[in-house]
Amino acid sequence: MDYRELLEGVVPEGVRRRLPRRVLRLGDVAVVRLYDGEAWRYRREVGEAVLEAVPGVRCVVAWRGISGVFREPVGEVVAGEGDAETVHVELGVRYKLDPTRVMFAKGNLREKRRLAERGLFDGASVFDMFAGIGYLSLPVAVHRDPEVVYCAELNPVAYRYLVENVRLNDVGDVVVPFLGDCREVAGLIPEVDVVIMGYLKGTLDFLDVALSKVRVGGRVMVHEVFPADWDEGRTAGEVLGAVPGGFEVEVVDVRDVKSYGPGLVHRVVELVRLK
Ligand SMILES: C[S@@+](CC[C@H](N)C(=O)[O-])C[C@H]1O[C@@H](n2cnc3c(N)ncnc32)[C@H](O)[C@@H]1O
Repeated sequence: MDYRELLEGVVPEGVRRRLPRRVLRLGDVAVVRLYDGEAWRYRREVGEAVLEAVPGVRCVVAWRGISGVFREPVGEVVAGEGDAETVHVELGVRYKLDPTRVMFAKGNLREKRRLAERGLFDGASVFDMFAGIGYLSLPVAVHRDPEVVYCAELNPVAYRYLVENVRLNDVGDVVVPFLGDCREVAGLIPEVDVVIMGYLKGTLDFLDVALSKVRVGGRVMVHEVFPADWDEGRTAGEVLGAVPGGFEVEVVDVRDVKSYGPGLVHRVVELVRLK
C-alpha cells in the first residue's frame, strides 16, 4: 500500500503530493527522505503512515541529508519502537548500523557488486581510505579472497560499527580497522596492491596519499562527483590533472555509480600507477 494514501486530509494536499513515493528499507527500519522543509514539519504524521503501510517495519526514520566530513545523517526516529539500530543485509553482507547516526547509500549497490565480482582482489592487499562502517571493504572481504584489507575511518561512531561488522561477517582474519585519519593510517601500513577512495567532494586532495601507498602496477579507485555531461575523457583529465609530481598513472576505467542530484553523477575513475 502507498503510505501517501493514508495522509489524505492529514497533511496539506500540496505537501502530500510532493512526498517521496519510495521509502528505503534498511533491515527492519524504514527511512523516508523529507528534503522539503514543509514536509519535515509533518514528519511524525508521515512516519505513522509509513509504519502502517509498510509491512515488517519496526520504526521509521525521517531523513534530511548528510553533513560534514563525517557524512553524518540529519534525521530522527519519528514513529515506531526503540532506536534505529538494525542489521541490513545487502549482497550477502551484514551491515549493522543506525541510519540516524551513520550514512548508508543504497545507490552504491552497483559498485559494491562490481567489487564483489572482481578477481583483482584475490590474494591482494587493499587499503580502504574512507571505510565508514565497511561499505566497500566488506563486499571485498566477504566475496573475494584478499590477503588483507586495511580500513581507515575517522568517525568514532562509524568505526565502532565497522569493528562490529567485521565480527558479524566473520572476516576478522583479513580486515584490519584503524580509527583515525587515513593520512596517518597510511604511515602505519605497508604498500598495497589496491587503494579504494570511497569519498566524495574532496577525494582528489588525498590522491598523493593513495599514490604513495599503492605499489607500482597497483590500482587506485577514485570516487568523485562530476558534471553528468562530462565524457570519459574530460572526467579522466580532471583526475590526471590532480596527480602530484613524481607519479605517473594511466586511467584504465571510468564508470558511473549513481546519479547525484540534478546534472551530477558519482563516478569511479580507476588508475594504475606506472611510476
Ligand atoms: C561517504 S562515507 C563512505 C561512503 C561509502 N563509500 C559508501 O559506499 O556508502 C566516507 C567516510 O569517510 C570518513 N572520512 C572522512 N575523512 C576521512 C579521513 N581523512 N580519514 C579517514 N576517514 C575519513 C567519514 O567519516 C565517512 O565515514
